[in-house]
Amino acid sequence: MSNSLHIYDSFGPLNTLLEGKKEVVVLIDKGIKDLYGGYFPYPQIEVQTGEEQKNLATVEYICRRLLELECSRSAFLLCVGGGILTDIGGFVASIFKRGIKCGYVPTTLLAQVDASTGGKTGVNLSGLKNILGTFSLPEFTYINTSTLKTLPQRELLAGAAEMIKAFAIKDRESFAMASKYFHDGIDTSSPQFRDLLATAIGIKAGIVERDFRESGERKLLNFGHTFGHAIEKCASECGDSILHGEAVAKGMKVASEISLRRGILSEDDHHTLCTTLEKMGFDLTIRYDAEKLIEAIKNDKKRGENGVDFVLLQEIGKSCVESISFEDLAKAAADVLH
Ligand SMILES: NC(=O)c1ccc[n+]([C@@H]2O[C@H](COP(=O)([O-])OP(=O)(O)OC[C@H]3O[C@@H](n4cnc5c(N)ncnc54)[C@H](O)[C@@H]3O)[C@@H](O)[C@H]2O)c1
Ligand SMILES: [Zn+2]
Repeated sequence: MSNSLHIYDSFGPLNTLLEGKKEVVVLIDKGIKDLYGGYFPYPQIEVQTGEEQKNLATVEYICRRLLELECSRSAFLLCVGGGILTDIGGFVASIFKRGIKCGYVPTTLLAQVDASTGGKTGVNLSGLKNILGTFSLPEFTYINTSTLKTLPQRELLAGAAEMIKAFAIKDRESFAMASKYFHDGIDTSSPQFRDLLATAIGIKAGIVERDFRESGERKLLNFGHTFGHAIEKCASECGDSILHGEAVAKGMKVASEISLRRGILSEDDHHTLCTTLEKMGFDLTIRYDAEKLIEAIKNDKKRGENGVDFVLLQEIGKSCVESISFEDLAKAAADVLH
């Protein structure tokens, strides 16, 4: 079930992975075509990315282009771009001619640490995120960390939130390392960064390996996401700009504070999590009221009948899932957000 992961600081070794493949087609994010398109001497399909373009029309466009290129079932789709591109490309690969092989070359930190691991592909429909999709793994994921040099700083930091999340739920030692190395900006060319990236991906990959379809342990990866998603929703309704990772950072603070108030997390660990995020540059203030956030949580696709499976922190590096009713969640949110 696991695919192979390759982390380098150039595109050179990618050639070995593509050797012997006869029909390679590159699917690339238009926004980075000028930066990286030249590294791939294969027919290319460019698509505009953005949540608005993450839809069936784009899937259809890519499939038509594959047909024009006379791709057979042995074609290989190399998906180069951020999480939007790899989600769409993985989806296309899983359905074109009932499935062709693909490889991911994620170029954002979020895609490297999160979206390209775990086998979830998909597109949006009727304003619902990732509502159409498949579970399907690429043959490999190839990370060239030097692509992060051209990534806007804000996107880089947002991706790092998912690394902190992975460490917070599973790996105290790596959390401490990240806390040390990330607070004066993130030097993506350092060996420490590369190690931390590989560890964070390994944490997700390990969890997914044990619980592919999210019936148990995989839920831990939603740490910070219950409120994170609600914050994203409220922000979009108010016309505020927020990136997923920025919302997750705020959501982790709320989840940590709820854990503290329930008496399962120490004051010290709560403080460490919040100061680490703040020193990295995250703004943890939340300006939406508790009621609005709970309303958004009630509309989330991951809700249960009367509540949600909520990820609590027991200590940095250890987490658990507890089913919390909407009523209790509303009380907790009101306490935490005053
Ligand atoms: N499949 C999963 O398990 C999973 C997990 C997490 C997130 N996701 C999905 O990932 C998507 C978000 O991914 P994202 O944050 O990577 O966004 P994205 O793909 O939109 O990329 C962000 C921006 O960065 C640009 N960009 C990409 N690489 C660059 C580079 N190296 N240099 C400069 N600019 C670059 C893109 O053109 C885009 O404007 C969401 O749709 C989300 O649903 C999926
Ligand atoms: Zn996330």
